[in-house]
Amino acid sequence: MKLSIIGAGAVGTSCAQWAVVKEVAEEIVLIDIVPGLAKGKALDLAHSLPLLSRSIKVEGTEDFSALSGSDVVIITAGKPRTPGMSREELLKINADIVKSCAENVKRYAPDSIVIVVSNPLDAMVYVAYKVTGFSRERVIGMAGVLDSARYRYFIAEALGVSPADVSALVLGIHGDHMVPLVRLANVAGVPITQLLSQEKVEEIVKRTKYGGGEIVNLLKTGSAFITPGLATIEMAESILKDAKRVLTCSVLLQGEYGISGVFLGVPVILGRKGVERILEFDLLPEEREALLAGAKVCEALISQLEL
Ligand code: NAI
Ligand code: 2OP
Repeated sequence: MKLSIIGAGAVGTSCAQWAVVKEVAEEIVLIDIVPGLAKGKALDLAHSLPLLSRSIKVEGTEDFSALSGSDVVIITAGKPRTPGMSREELLKINADIVKSCAENVKRYAPDSIVIVVSNPLDAMVYVAYKVTGFSRERVIGMAGVLDSARYRYFIAEALGVSPADVSALVLGIHGDHMVPLVRLANVAGVPITQLLSQEKVEEIVKRTKYGGGEIVNLLKTGSAFITPGLATIEMAESILKDAKRVLTCSVLLQGEYGISGVFLGVPVILGRKGVERILEFDLLPEEREALLAGAKVCEALISQLEL
């Protein structure tokens, strides 16, 4: 299996590192337009192979033809946020970057499955979907796995329990209108609403929604990259190993949840063919309303794109 990662910045490097640690592919390629950057990162990563007792081929290059034969391509190219900036403000600059990456994916890796990470996420997946012309099953956005991991961590921290025992999901847009579902969040099957006060739950939901911004404000020169990289590799791994994991991913909705024409985070089964099924379930009126608010933002972003 071959995994390629476009963008050898913070998130791309984190993806490559987790991919080696988790052994998700036999061949890993890092690509960046900055001369030497991907090659240097790949070489540094390759030096870890003896210590990890791995025999994986790791390569870095500026040459997009290295995408050839990729089973999965991850697009992380693009600008990150700086303090005070919203993900949406990255729209124009990152749309051009993702467009050029998607053109290269279409040209060199026409049979691959694409995972987009660049922000504003749900609009950037749309760009990749349109430019590649791939089916919706093969163009997927990463955000829900990250947002749900943050939600699970904050719940575990509040309760003093292992994060492994917390199950919770965040639906919708990767932005202020994301929907951390309170009703379904639980600790080993016990609803969090029975374990935490309403005030604490509201605090956790708010912190989850602004979890990315909290890190941007602390880092000042970039955004989160460690867990974003791992979350992306969770998705890639499920595809490469045909693991059928149920992960919340940004996918093109065509009537599911009563929404059409936009990418939003919903639970899906990920396997060798990409999105094998979208899991649909009944939402409460307020949950549906929140999901629709995100859909409207995504629609507005898409309408500004010139593709
Ligand atoms: P970064 O600035 O560290 O890295 C971006 C890399 O993309 C740079 O090395 C740059 O040279 C490269 N690049 C730019 N144009 C390119 C092109 N046309 N072809 C190939 N490479 C190109 O940024 P970082 O922190 O890695 O973030 C990348 C993107 O991921 C940002 O848009 C950020 O907002 C987004 N992000 C999304 C998350 C999510 O949950 N979906 C989580 C974390 C970051
Ligand atoms: C995050 O949520 C920046 O979107 C990125 O960390």
